[in-house]
Amino acid sequence: MRLIAHRGFAGQHPENTLRAVRSAAECADEVEVDVRRCDSGELVAIHDASVDRVTDGSGPVCRHSLAELRDLRVLDTDETVPTLEEVLDAVPPTVGVNIELKEVGLADDAVRLARSAEPQVCVSSFHANELEGCRGADCEVPRAYLFDEASDQAMEFARDLDCSFVHPSLDCCTERLVGDAHAAGMSVNVWTVREATEAEQLADLGVDGVIADFADVLPEAEPPR
Ligand code: G3P
Ligand code: MG
Repeated sequence: MRLIAHRGFAGQHPENTLRAVRSAAECADEVEVDVRRCDSGELVAIHDASVDRVTDGSGPVCRHSLAELRDLRVLDTDETVPTLEEVLDAVPPTVGVNIELKEVGLADDAVRLARSAEPQVCVSSFHANELEGCRGADCEVPRAYLFDEASDQAMEFARDLDCSFVHPSLDCCTERLVGDAHAAGMSVNVWTVREATEAEQLADLGVDGVIADFADVLPEAEPPR
């Protein structure tokens, strides 16, 4: 089963920072980051629409220029909010990157950066239109449809968007969902996994990957100390 570092293993590192993605890349198969656009136009790695929870600043990400974001510190560390480009440069080519598009209007830039990056990149989103935009920009960049309620409609969206993956939440992942996805030629990566027992149960369902907050949900994946 593949190990995907949720926000760069948010349970262990300051989420979506360069420190997190570099450390996570030492043992994960892939690193997931959340992406938004800041006021000066760059794509940046941050989960929430505002900077309040994870930085010492306040206000919407889209009202901060990159220069202003550089002045903020993430979760009481020296880390700052990185650009997507910096994240892609920080991950070695042997490790994948899952870019989660948190808002609309990012597809063209995300795909352009994905194409020129060394790591293998997959784009994911809860926004079906954004995945449609990614397919239009470059159908070769693999897509993943994210959802937190299992339904025939969610699977249909994923199939219609020619997704390579579905990313259901832990709560809604069932054996039937895994079977349907595999029958449609899609792999299944489940979020957010925090316990080894959860990973074991998902492995029994035939899940292909876990998007996890901690590396030790798959004990064999822990890096040498
Ligand atoms: O990509 C899976 C997961 O990251 C989706 O939820 O809110 O942690 O971005 P969230
Ligand atoms: Mg995410």
